[in-house]
Amino acid sequence: MTSELSPIDQAKFIAAKRAADMVEDGMRVGLGTGSTAAWFVRCLGELVRSGDLEIHGVPTSQRTAALARDVGIPLMSLDEARWLDLTVDGADEFDRDLNLIKGGGGALLQEKIVATASDRVVIIADKAKEVETLGAFPLPLEVIPFGWQTTQALVEETLVAMNVMGRKATLRMNGDAAWVTDEGNHILDLHLHRIGNARQLALVLNQIPGVVENGLFIDICDTVIVGFGDGKVEVRDIDQGTIETGHIEFEESENLFRDLGE
Ligand code: A5P
Repeated sequence: MTSELSPIDQAKFIAAKRAADMVEDGMRVGLGTGSTAAWFVRCLGELVRSGDLEIHGVPTSQRTAALARDVGIPLMSLDEARWLDLTVDGADEFDRDLNLIKGGGGALLQEKIVATASDRVVIIADKAKEVETLGAFPLPLEVIPFGWQTTQALVEETLVAMNVMGRKATLRMNGDAAWVTDEGNHILDLHLHRIGNARQLALVLNQIPGVVENGLFIDICDTVIVGFGDGKVEVRDIDQGTIETGHIEFEESENLFRDLGE
């Protein structure tokens, strides 16, 4: 029940619920990964199960695919869909230009491919994700396992010439073993503290052999929906330059709140 949700989960839920209002019949919808995106998948599942909405979802991870199936959303692969109407995902950080750091949940590669293939990308977040300058959150970098330590050294060397405040790259772990992504790769987390030129860094990192993709999402996001614990919601649109505010009431829904968080 809603009373059991922490303020941060309430904020995530509010943002997710507002994003679900943007989904229309017949849409092919990219389904993001992470705890905020999971709320969106649950909200969407409720609409689909009630018969109010017919859509197809394209998941950005095995985790999201499993949740979407559980809540009754029909799925298709990106290759079946080819192009998506809308993708809704979370983020680790967003700035005033709606550039993002993503990949804290380890799904940045599929997330970036799916978002780039979408007419509209909506990011749902709580206020704590908003930053003046990207980089306090470690930047995830997906690298192939072969020679990852050589890649790590090359990345750290490259960072010397970049406009960043730190340059340590650490291998993401899953217990005692290296984290393995859905694509069978590893993740280096770059502790940069402050990214002075995110656009340049994103381009340079992807030139390093062994790097598959970085977690900087530049010019990909169209809209950020910021949820607040008290039900307030802000919709910021970069193309229209608008900020719309609203309020969403919590609804006591057994199905939605039965299985909390990720
Ligand atoms: C997953 O790889 C990430 O990009 C997530 O979207 C991001 O980490 C946000 O996750 P939360 O919603 O759990 O904070």
